[in-house]
Amino acid sequence: MTAAIIDGKAFADGLRARVGAAAAELKTAHGVVPGLAVVLVGEDPASQVYVRSKSRAAEQAGLGHFDHRLPATTAQAELEALVARLNADPAVDGILVQLPLPKGLDQTRVIAAIDPAKDVDGLHVVNAGLLASGSMDRALVPCTPLGSLMLLKDRLGDLSGADAVVVGRSVLVGRPMAQLLIGENCTVTVAHSRTRDIAARCRSSDILVAAVGRPEMIRGDWVKPGATVIDVGINRVAAPTAEKPDGTRLVGDVAFEEAKAVAGAITPVPGGVGPMTIACLLANTVTAACRRRGLAVPAQLASR
Ligand code: GUN
Repeated sequence: MTAAIIDGKAFADGLRARVGAAAAELKTAHGVVPGLAVVLVGEDPASQVYVRSKSRAAEQAGLGHFDHRLPATTAQAELEALVARLNADPAVDGILVQLPLPKGLDQTRVIAAIDPAKDVDGLHVVNAGLLASGSMDRALVPCTPLGSLMLLKDRLGDLSGADAVVVGRSVLVGRPMAQLLIGENCTVTVAHSRTRDIAARCRSSDILVAAVGRPEMIRGDWVKPGATVIDVGINRVAAPTAEKPDGTRLVGDVAFEEAKAVAGAITPVPGGVGPMTIACLLANTVTAACRRRGLAVPAQLASR
């Protein structure tokens, strides 16, 4: 058996088109242009690439976008002052501070300074708390787990009763992913670096979400035959060739070829979860813009 490939890029393209249509409708009906502010501190090359694609995607969907680039030497107070200005700016509906922040800056305090109603990353404790207490419909949900859930539901329909394992317990992905799966009536295991016999726990799960940031850690024999595998990892590894001795390539947290031979369906890297993260960021920005004004969130953005 060979797994179906879950085409995250195609799903994300569809979602981005729906966001664009919803934004156009908001403008016509209410004169509202949802605005996304993206803050990048420092010169981390991977973050620069991510931030550029977020802004480009916002523009293509017809959203307002405001880019703020600050030097790595920026003081905590200065960064928090920028966040305060964005909180107060009526043209800004979503605020994303790209992580990780350079050394010396306190991530937790910066996130706490963001207005929860504009926290399109879903990282503020108010949004994490709403998600954890079962009020997903009022929370802004972190983009990567939200996108992963959309792909799962698109593939499987009702997830009720499924055994799910989330490998990784990060605030950005693992924890909110587990909460979303609980909300879908899955039985959820969160596995991490201290978990005993992680392979066996994976092998007994119908749904496997890998979000550890370790290249190809999850092997084919960890996957239950027929399981649905969502690979959140984006890891750059050396791939030297005769022409390019310093060549690299992207791999996930799952050994793709091995897992593909066992799973029922699997997301590729690249082209799986990655494109969903940006599409969900745009969707969250429109959701925030509507909620802040007491408008109904357009049905075409409803993920669940
Ligand atoms: N760095 C890597 N992924 C993300 C994300 O989803 N949001 C933010 N703010 N930073 C990130």
